[in-house]
Amino acid sequence: MPQPTTVLFVCLGNICRSPLAEGVFLHLANQRGVAHRFEVDSCGTGGWHAGNRPDPRSIAVADKHSINLPSRARQLDASDADRFDLIIAMDASNRDNLINAGVHAGKVRLLREFDPTVDANRADRDVPDPYYGGPDGFDDVYDMVLRSCDALLDLLLGSSDR
Ligand code: 4NP
Repeated sequence: MPQPTTVLFVCLGNICRSPLAEGVFLHLANQRGVAHRFEVDSCGTGGWHAGNRPDPRSIAVADKHSINLPSRARQLDASDADRFDLIIAMDASNRDNLINAGVHAGKVRLLREFDPTVDANRADRDVPDPYYGGPDGFDDVYDMVLRSCDALLDLLLGSSDR
């Protein structure tokens, strides 16, 4: 049995975007019958919300699509850089924070590098922080996360496994 691929989704607070990405990725992996091939987690570069459930607006958008968000917020830990094969930042500032915290840049990707609707040369490939906006922002985040996680799974599995 090969070792599972370990994937860590990272945002700032770990209550809005990265728990949604974690839940969506797992949901898609379950739908494809390949969840056993992955270990997935999420964290924030900041620790303000450690121990908290995801933001109710993230829970609401996930519920709308019958996706469970079981995680509790936690802050990035020094061991994460070694524990995870792939560390996926929601935006460029999360990526900078990860690299400043000592995570090797080669392990860090932006989630929307995998979004098939985003031109690879586009400078802005952020999943925008929806925390201070309204619920529409969470629907937009969900759409970006869904497209990106689906394409990421294709890549990790190899297109022949679809
Ligand atoms: P997230 O959103 O990084 O997607 O979880 C945020 C949540 C909380 C804060 C900022 C962003 N905050 O400043 O408390």
